[in-house]
Amino acid sequence: MDTSDITVSARFPQGRARPFVMVIFGASGDLAHRKIMPAVYELCCGKAWPAKTLVVGYGRAELDTGGFRDGLRQAVREHARSAFDEGVWRDLAGRIHYHRGEYGSREDFERLRARLESLTAEADLPPNYLFYLSTPPGQFEDVIAHLGASGLARKGAAGDEPWSRVVIEKPFGRDLDSARRLNGLLAEVFDEAQVYRIDHYLGKETVQNLLVMRFANSVFEPIWNQKYIDHVQITAAETSGVGGRGSYYDSAGALRDMLQNHMMNLLCLVAMEAPASLEADAVRDEKVKVLRSLRPIPPDCAAFGVIRAQYGPGEADGRTFRDYTGEPGVAAGSSTETFIALKLNIDNWRWAEVPFFVRTGKALAQRVTEIVIQFKPVPPVLFNRPPTGPMQPNQLVVRVQPDEGISMRFQVKQPGSPLKIEGVPMHFGYAGTFGRKVPEAYERLILDAATGDPTLFIRSDEIEAAWSFVMPILAGCDRVRGRALPRYAPLSWGPREADDLIAAGGARWHTPAAMDPRQAQR
Ligand code: BG6
Repeated sequence: MDTSDITVSARFPQGRARPFVMVIFGASGDLAHRKIMPAVYELCCGKAWPAKTLVVGYGRAELDTGGFRDGLRQAVREHARSAFDEGVWRDLAGRIHYHRGEYGSREDFERLRARLESLTAEADLPPNYLFYLSTPPGQFEDVIAHLGASGLARKGAAGDEPWSRVVIEKPFGRDLDSARRLNGLLAEVFDEAQVYRIDHYLGKETVQNLLVMRFANSVFEPIWNQKYIDHVQITAAETSGVGGRGSYYDSAGALRDMLQNHMMNLLCLVAMEAPASLEADAVRDEKVKVLRSLRPIPPDCAAFGVIRAQYGPGEADGRTFRDYTGEPGVAAGSSTETFIALKLNIDNWRWAEVPFFVRTGKALAQRVTEIVIQFKPVPPVLFNRPPTGPMQPNQLVVRVQPDEGISMRFQVKQPGSPLKIEGVPMHFGYAGTFGRKVPEAYERLILDAATGDPTLFIRSDEIEAAWSFVMPILAGCDRVRGRALPRYAPLSWGPREADDLIAAGGARWHTPAAMDPRQAQR
């Protein structure tokens, strides 16, 4: 792809956002209630939300502004981090409006346009528009096309007032072709600089800290390569099953739902080179290079160590799990994976021969996302041989969530004699050090979109590179569609094959409980 049309400079420096209108499409949906509006409320609590900014919810539900505000009030009470403050809410709620409309109706978009014009005139606001697409993905194309046809999109108006920008939720396409089509449609209506493809993992504090940890410290970068690192593990595990999202999830699976986006982003931030600057494109250029250096996995992926499985029925931890294929909304006999583990190789100078073991799944033993850097062992002389060895190599664990923090395991001498050596953790925890809850990813991302900083959003070539990598694996999954997948016990660590995968590389999965220094494994 020619990247000359996707240059986004840092000409919109991060700073205080100017007042604008946030138009949420899919406003009566779950995401708006659980994530988007609680994040807006938090920004209001922290005084980061520009005064006078309006929120206009657009949706098909038969609601009026009063009913919409009531629903959001309840959602904010339930889902915001901070205690509910009536004064903050009242101030915000007074600037929230609801506009009922269909996504495919030209007239409804014309009416929306007229409504926005009158609201901005009344509030004496510049017509700065942040369009937030949180509809089901099947509606994206209609909304984008109508934003263009109604004149609301204002192609080219990325930075200077009055600006317009569009935030698009995942999933961005369901394969390379549909992602390209969506990119093409967006490019007709907006400039790339106006497009903010969201991956909420990039807004997590601990994920942003990956670059700080790597490039603001002198101790890590010199050893961050194949000379010193044996392998890397990336785990994103959830204890919940698919819940009420069965029909969406069954068409996605762990591969589309987590691997193609969240896991790829974590991988990129661990593996990328230092960017030339912190400008959005400098960072994103380096991420794209990682994606393009991934060794392709052929479609007979099972033979190349791609492990896919589903959770089976069972009772665990006082909970009853149905077999995945019996979940509401899931097709009987479905061969969609709820767990995937695979070994990735990045064929570049830094990472040659260093395997990246990646796993993600539902109904697993613990809710945890972490990145483990396993260093190579010291030579088998002096301590690393009997009677004091063999010793476990150094290990750096970045706990993305929960209990956000970083732990380094290193060897110390146990007091006394005879000489015994023990691996102990050196631990940093966000909560203990900073004494407050880390902000939600959506707070940071919404504010970045409002201030015009696309660094933590996905660029068009990036999304296409990620899809290009997963396409052969998807083709492999299609070939075995209809065949039963292996089952794993609910609240376990997944199928035995995933353990075999990493064991074949001479390693084993890190046990997340070891992150807590009080429970560190000895
Ligand atoms: C979403 C997926 O993108 O990320 C969900 O669609 C998943 O299936 C969620 O549960 C995980 O996000 P988090 O922030 O809870 O790790």
